Amino acid sequence: MPLDAEKEIEYLRNQILDHDYHYYTLAQPVISDEEYDLLMHRLFSLEQQHPDLLTPDSPSQRVGGRPLKEFSTVTHIIPMLSLANTYNEEDIRAFDRRIAETLGIGAYRYVCELKFDGVAVTLHYHRGILTLGATRGDGMQGDDISQNLKTIRSIPLRLHTQSSIPDFCEVRGEIFMKRSDFEHMNEERLLSGEKTFMNPRNSTAGTLKLQDPKLVAQRPLNFFAYYLRCPGIDLQSHSRCLAVLEEYGLPVNKQSKICTTIDEVIAYWKTWEQNRDTLPFDIDGIVVKLDALAQQEQLGSIAKSPRWAAAFKFSSRQAETILHEIHLQIGRLGTVTPVADLEPVFLGGTTVTHATLHNAEYIKKLDIRLTDHVIVEKGGDVIPKVSSVVLEKRQKGTQTFGFPDSCPECGAKLFRPEGEANYFCENSECPAQIMGRIQHFASRGAMDIEGLGEANVEQLVLCGLLKNSADIYDLKKNRDILLAQERWGQKSVQKLLDAVEKSRKQKFHRVLYALGIRHVGASIAQRIVKKFRTIQQLESACVDELKELEGIGPQIAESVVRFFADVHNRTIVRRLKSARLTMAENEKPKAASGSLSGKVFVLTGALTTMTRDEAKEHIESSGGKVSSLVSTKTDFVVVGADAGSKLKKARLLKIPLIDEKNFIKLITK
Ligand code: IVH
Repeated sequence: MPLDAEKEIEYLRNQILDHDYHYYTLAQPVISDEEYDLLMHRLFSLEQQHPDLLTPDSPSQRVGGRPLKEFSTVTHIIPMLSLANTYNEEDIRAFDRRIAETLGIGAYRYVCELKFDGVAVTLHYHRGILTLGATRGDGMQGDDISQNLKTIRSIPLRLHTQSSIPDFCEVRGEIFMKRSDFEHMNEERLLSGEKTFMNPRNSTAGTLKLQDPKLVAQRPLNFFAYYLRCPGIDLQSHSRCLAVLEEYGLPVNKQSKICTTIDEVIAYWKTWEQNRDTLPFDIDGIVVKLDALAQQEQLGSIAKSPRWAAAFKFSSRQAETILHEIHLQIGRLGTVTPVADLEPVFLGGTTVTHATLHNAEYIKKLDIRLTDHVIVEKGGDVIPKVSSVVLEKRQKGTQTFGFPDSCPECGAKLFRPEGEANYFCENSECPAQIMGRIQHFASRGAMDIEGLGEANVEQLVLCGLLKNSADIYDLKKNRDILLAQERWGQKSVQKLLDAVEKSRKQKFHRVLYALGIRHVGASIAQRIVKKFRTIQQLESACVDELKELEGIGPQIAESVVRFFADVHNRTIVRRLKSARLTMAENEKPKAASGSLSGKVFVLTGALTTMTRDEAKEHIESSGGKVSSLVSTKTDFVVVGADAGSKLKKARLLKIPLIDEKNFIKLITK
């Protein structure tokens, strides 16, 4: 028996499992990726030399399995029940009343947890070693997906031994995917021509069904444990189970809360309904569980769900309603967006009457017709969208939607460039475009004029005070007319004029962005002013000169040249110049000499002291570049809180990581 090898293997396994726990469960890595890889490499080679020493809990076995033909069926020791759903306060109070009546005492408490929108699984640990992982299936029998679950590094292959480990225990919990990981994965699938997944839950379910664990290992799956039973051991309460799960080294969500009254439960539900989008993963409600296990037993179960727990779901973000009409909205650049006028429907806390239909192509693809029953969805963003048609309910004799051929605001003929999904109104004098352009000019990321929000701009355009953005700087002359308008008084007018005055100091790149040139966003504007230091230089630039700039292709270059060739635009620029707006970049170019010159950064996770845009500005003003994808060309990855797949990729490619503190040091050097 190679005693030294055995000892070393044991040592390496303990080290690696411990580092997995620090990295995946606590998110506090202790060693570098290189050091981790060395440990893993050494373990692999020792196990290869001594195959007799291989054990199922070795970290080398995470992706050790071969592809399967089919999963074998497992019968659950205790059925995996589902939960009764409640949707409103009344039902949850009724649930509480039933509990009080059955127990006949007032002394009970609940544990509230988030209801993770993933896939439920069960894990078996014999003497602390993971021996089985299975799906819920029909509640009685599920699939043995042990090989797939072993690839998930936050699931310990061996329980931690700070406390005594039982002969057997069963852990249940949810496999899920973070939204950012899901989006990133879909982006990559799109690029490689693969089918994309609908949502994180679908992609989790699809991944767990894969029969090749090597493929599963590449997918960003996570786990939260929320159930523990150890035969022969009295765990007393659910809250104790959660604490023991944590001691065993299993990931347990930190947002659970002990509630002693049903009002507290309702408050927890309300808080999470409002804050669900701040979590990095999807939840569809909360779960309320009676804490004491003896009381749980007293209540028992009916059919498929326990009486001691309930899911308290959030109101749906999808609803069915009727499409009455489609009207067109014209953006500041003339882009035509079709909008659905709907039969009012209550959705996610508000009544929805309108939803976006994106563009003509979208209507055609989904074959959306007037009078159709449609599904409206509210995602993370505020604007609801029509996501599908309930074809079974379509009335007879309906016709495909004929997209209007003229602009509803100005009557100009609409134009759809070849290969584009959108129609455009090409009349730059279209009132809808004028309004949109001024709103953009005054907006936060552009000239940032407080007091000129969308509603006020609309009012001032309608009363004739503003016909274009240059008119903003004539407001002082027109003070009396402004004062005569509804809702404007001495104070608010003065405040607006002060804000207008202040905006003259905005930097040149902001002014350039505010002009609203098609395809020139905030960061392109910054790039342009690095080479074209004054508006005069830019006005006389040709397409080829503009194309020399990195990140500027023919489309942007042509758009800039076209903008300055337009007489109307030239007049506005001339007026803005005489209004003394900043029309030149004063600071010396930093790109060539900046401390970060030529370095490519990727930002991931949230920073606490600045926004992403600010971080980007810092990097770029020191000569660095910011990219959205981690690749071998990346020099540094700046890691904020809750970093997701980019961090993983960076580790994989061994790209240097910097935390926020060191990032600040770097940019202030
Ligand atoms: S407890 C008997 N806790 O909800 C109690 N379930 O309809 C069993 N789920 O299949 C489950 N988050 O997939 C529990 N914190 C949580 C949960 C949770 C999500 C899912 C789970 C289960 C379904 C019940």
